[in-house]
Order: sequence, then structure tokens, then C-alpha cells
Amino acid sequence: MLFRQLYDQETSTYTYLLADEDSKEAVIIDSVLEQVERDQKLIKELQLNLKYILETHVHADHITGATELKKSFPNAKTIVHSKGGVECADIHSTDGMEIKFGKYYLKVLSTPGHTNGCVSYYTEGMVFTGDALLIRGCGRTDFQQGDPSKLYDSITQKIFTLPDNTLVYPGHDYKGFTCSSVWEEKKYNPRLANKTKDEFILIMNNLNLPYPKKIQESVPANLKCGNIKLSDA
Ligand code: FE2
Repeated sequence: MLFRQLYDQETSTYTYLLADEDSKEAVIIDSVLEQVERDQKLIKELQLNLKYILETHVHADHITGATELKKSFPNAKTIVHSKGGVECADIHSTDGMEIKFGKYYLKVLSTPGHTNGCVSYYTEGMVFTGDALLIRGCGRTDFQQGDPSKLYDSITQKIFTLPDNTLVYPGHDYKGFTCSSVWEEKKYNPRLANKTKDEFILIMNNLNLPYPKKIQESVPANLKCGNIKLSDA
């Protein structure tokens, strides 16, 4: 499988490009508006046929590049979970749905808790966890329908039940990590390793984090598939 991990420095966001080298069919996960030119150029240089533009959730810290990407790849379809509230998405995914590109697929795992519509995407050997599970951390649960109890269940019952050697590719990293594994996070994630659900909830309810800088503009724009003109209206 062709695999690229791309990074937006300003928001510490990872964008992932996956493709089947034979058929050239490709998917992109969590694009960032400011990086669309980079991604369009790369997809064209690699001679890929972008089939799907996926989101792990409605982001609060950056605007998706979905609408801009579609200008270059008009056949690409946007996919957001049905509980994300993104009516403009071409496809609303549900738990267990398989997204096929060439001989590969990504399976949608509904992993709510950071937001209601959060998903992880699993393919053999890799899981893209968005902001549900981060490396040695997890997504916050203090806005956008955040719910630490749901997040605990999503991580422990959906992500931690994948094979131990599954590589974890998160939606962000703020410390320079690029990937982890299910085994590693079960063993070393300070919010989850040997923690009960009540202990996890207590940790999550006492993080006292500042709001993301771009939340006011990002959430409405992402509910419009990253179409800034519509979100301003
Ligand atoms: Fe998020």
C-alpha cells in the first residue's frame, strides 16, 4: 500500500494519504485547508485517482480541505459519519462500513466520546484514530458533545480490542511522535493503562485546557464541508 503521513505544523494535525499502487485509487484522511495545495500537488505527482475524502470527525482546531480538494478531484466523494451533522457530505458513514480503494479497504469504527460523530478507520495493521486515541493521550471531552464515559468505551472496547501489533496513527501529535501501537497505548497511555472508567472520567474532567484558537471559525466551516463562503453566510 502506498502510505504518506503529512503534517500541518500550525495545528499539529496529521493528514494521511493511502492508495493502491496498482489501481491508483486513493483516499485522504483529515485534510487541512491551508495544506490543500501541497496535497493536490502530491496526489497529482503520484498519479493517483482520489476516490474518497474522509474525516475522522468535525474538527474544532482546523478547517478541512474537503471542498477545495474537490475542485481538483471532482470525482472524489466526501465521507463523514452520520452523527457528525455534516449534511453536505456525499456519503454518511455508519459503524462497520467498509470503504474500498483498489484492493484495500478501511473499516469504519464508530468511536464517539471526543465528539458524537468520531470514527476510527481500520485496515489490517493500521488504525487511524482521529482524536479518539492520541499517542500517550486522547482527545478532550469538554465541548462538541464530548463525553468521557463514551470515549473510555470507544477506546477500550473498539480500539484496544484490535490486534496488539496494529499501528496507531492519530489525528494530532504535539510532542513529535508519529505513530504508536495498540499494545504500546494499552501499556503506557497514562490516561488509560490500569485505569478504571471512573478514574479516566476524573482525569478528563480536570484537564482545564484552553479552547482551541480557531474553534469559532473551524466548527461552522467543517459543518459545511470546509466551504468557507457558506459558513460565513
Ligand atoms: Fe478534534
